[in-house]
Amino acid sequence: MTRSVTVRVPAKVNVQLAVGAARPDGFHDLANVFLAVGMYDEVTATPADALRVTCSGPDAGLVPLDATNLAARAAIALAERHGIAPDVHLHIAKDIPVAGGMAGGSADGAAALLACDALWGTGAGREELLALCAELGSDVPFSLTGGAALGVGRGERLTPAEVGGTFHWVFAVADGGLSTPAVYGEFDRLTAGTQVPEPTASAALLAALRTGDTAALADALSNDLQAAALSLRPSLADTLAAGTAAGALAALVSGSGPTTAFLTDGEESARKVADALLTSGTCRDARVATSPAAGATVL
Ligand code: C5P
Repeated sequence: MTRSVTVRVPAKVNVQLAVGAARPDGFHDLANVFLAVGMYDEVTATPADALRVTCSGPDAGLVPLDATNLAARAAIALAERHGIAPDVHLHIAKDIPVAGGMAGGSADGAAALLACDALWGTGAGREELLALCAELGSDVPFSLTGGAALGVGRGERLTPAEVGGTFHWVFAVADGGLSTPAVYGEFDRLTAGTQVPEPTASAALLAALRTGDTAALADALSNDLQAAALSLRPSLADTLAAGTAAGALAALVSGSGPTTAFLTDGEESARKVADALLTSGTCRDARVATSPAAGATVL
């Protein structure tokens, strides 16, 4: 019998995040182009007497270990569906920034689901796993699939997108997190009384991904939540400016922030931008990573 299962799962950056008006259910319709980046959490599932979550890594203290943790919720959801007890120890080796706009929590949810399914032999198919992911959160299905994808609806209905090359990023990690609902709330406040257009995917952006054209991707990057994230955290403007001054081709807030993302034209310039960001004093850490990356994978 398998005694433990470990799943590796990537972070994401939104290369396009087009946000529509708030829906009656409070969510926003999106045209959300996800790109997985090679920065990973690992979730290990081991049989236990009761559900327990632990976490290691420099920012482990910031991760909730109770039933609000998406990894715990994933185990409970899968166990309930199969009429078994969620008696499992989930250990999260955390490397993705916490509450950073890089889907770290969502990644742990997708990884726990895959790990528990393998440990318990519940044999959930891809469709069942994707449906469970969508119940856990809007970004969770993409953490399972990885690569690149256009997400519509809340962002959970995915169509894979082709990626024809490697993209070199720098991610500036901010002090403290930003709450996703708070950022969407600020978006609603900033757009109140205006006609918010229907979100649509950018053909130029999808073409840039398909052809692996970094300069074209730099021109097409966009994030409708950026103004809201900057409004809640004005100091992010200094981080964006520092990365741009150091030679990044483009800079934007990652998802709901506060992590900021810098697209560069190669490994060398990525390292240069990361060094400049580190010495600028405008962020807590600067990390280099490439895209695309594979989705949640059993090791
Ligand atoms: O789906 P998830 O639980 O990750 O969403 C967290 C919060 O982000 C929601 O409660 C909502 O406030 C906001 N959200 C939204 N529209 C989306 C996705 C998330 O308003 N499409």
